[in-house]
Amino acid sequence: MKDTLMVYYSLNGNSAFAAEELMKHIDMDVERLKVRNEPKTRGFGKFLKGGAAALRGSDPGLWPVVADPQDYYEIVIAFPVWAGTYPPAIGAFLKQKPFRGKSVYLIGCSASGNAEGAFGKLTDALQGNTVLGTLSLKNPLKNKEEAAEEIRVFAARRH
Ligand SMILES: Cc1cc2nc3c(=O)[nH]c(=O)nc-3n(C[C@H](O)[C@H](O)[C@H](O)COP(=O)(O)O)c2cc1C
Repeated sequence: MKDTLMVYYSLNGNSAFAAEELMKHIDMDVERLKVRNEPKTRGFGKFLKGGAAALRGSDPGLWPVVADPQDYYEIVIAFPVWAGTYPPAIGAFLKQKPFRGKSVYLIGCSASGNAEGAFGKLTDALQGNTVLGTLSLKNPLKNKEEAAEEIRVFAARRH
């Protein structure tokens, strides 16, 4: 059994930034989720399309995930909040590579700084696992230093 797997999805780079910062503090395997169907439109259309897809839990066309979460004690999931929930890429990951009995940590990036609803919904979807910690980040790319510090503290406290 290996220690930690981090899986993350990022459309605009904020969750990718969070993931890369966490990698500075925790030695872990990392997989970035890639999907075929992303909201391509700019501006408000992106929010409408992506938000509707998140609410429907529609299939984003997730590329095959290489890592098997069952091989790890601990799973970290980092993602952007879409329409108050987790994006389709994360839902598709849970379907493609189901796992149980793991310690799970969640990192949610949002424009509002409020990821609680998304954490609640994802915790429901992670039934059979134990969510031990969450970190909510407000658009970390807009305030990299503060976000990096929050991530450092989160990494230090995670056990
Ligand atoms: C489709 C879509 C829906 C979003 N819905 C929300 C939301 O409900 N609440 C919120 O605070 N931010 C929302 N946002 C903003 C993102 O969560 C935020 O910008 C996040 O940092 C983006 O992460 P990323 O760069 O890793 O994609 C939404 C963004 C997109 C593209």
